[in-house]
Amino acid sequence: MSEFHVTRILPEDAMAAALRADVLNGLTSDPKTLPPKWFYDAHGSELFERITELPEYYPTRAEREILAGRAAEIAAALPARTLVELGSGSSEKTRHLIDALPRLHTYVPVDVSDSALEQAGRALVAERPGLNVHALIADFTAGLTLPHSPGPRLLAFLGGTIGNLLPGERAAFLAAVRGLLSPGDALLLGTDLVKAEDVLVRAYDDTAGVTAAFNKNVLSVVNRELGADFEPDAFDHVALWDAANEWIEMRLRSRTAQTVKVPALDLAVHFAAGEELRTEVSAKFHRTRVTTELATAELELTHWWTDTENRFALSLSVAG
Ligand code: AVJ
Repeated sequence: MSEFHVTRILPEDAMAAALRADVLNGLTSDPKTLPPKWFYDAHGSELFERITELPEYYPTRAEREILAGRAAEIAAALPARTLVELGSGSSEKTRHLIDALPRLHTYVPVDVSDSALEQAGRALVAERPGLNVHALIADFTAGLTLPHSPGPRLLAFLGGTIGNLLPGERAAFLAAVRGLLSPGDALLLGTDLVKAEDVLVRAYDDTAGVTAAFNKNVLSVVNRELGADFEPDAFDHVALWDAANEWIEMRLRSRTAQTVKVPALDLAVHFAAGEELRTEVSAKFHRTRVTTELATAELELTHWWTDTENRFALSLSVAG
């Protein structure tokens, strides 16, 4: 009855090429940067799962609270026949939504990790007879085309991951999302909210050091994939709140003056003592900014749900 397909949109070697380009570009920039998408190899994904269970890291619990409590309202507002989820990972939080959508015909999880897609997809098809799962191995920040499936479509982008995009990238991303939707389709977007600085910083600098390990893991990824000789413990984890941009920044601060070789790029990178490499921005939002940015992409915000402590929001916006 139900069908399970996996389609690879992302060519096998495209990820490798993208990593090389990002590392070359980022490590020769001033200040140095690396994009956060390279945190998530198998070990990094495991560390992120541990982060979501830390007492200091509230976003996952806050979003789960909203999804668990409001799934029926979300489903009533948009009785989707197709649910697309960008960056679906384990699809764990999405279960609430899937269970609340009785008319759901096709679930389209989109992720760069094929193992996560395979596991989550098989489990879902087994549990929910009649539901088709069409998983896409794709980079959602690049061009996407969706499989044919009935509307209305609900496209979910959860976790606050939109905060990893810089403002210009965010505008381009929302415009691309709007391009995937037809009139009457909707976007369900998770955004972490601006709050007291100490609460924000603690969420990215936990006492157990899991976030520090997660941050440094990007150096191990570059070592393994490009033969680099980063010594992760020669860097300190830094998390700070940039009040002007309203985002958290994670950085790695070189403890000493050192030179790192990246043989695959024929590159030697010098770090001064105390020099910082930016590894992530995680933007935090007010409702007004979410509304405006969505409106710019011709998405009209119709619903706004928060957790009881007002830390995190899910918004529903409809394509006109
Ligand atoms: C998965 C992008 C939502 O920005 O909070 C967690 C990643 N970084 N701790 C976030 C992350 C440091 C997370 N997102």
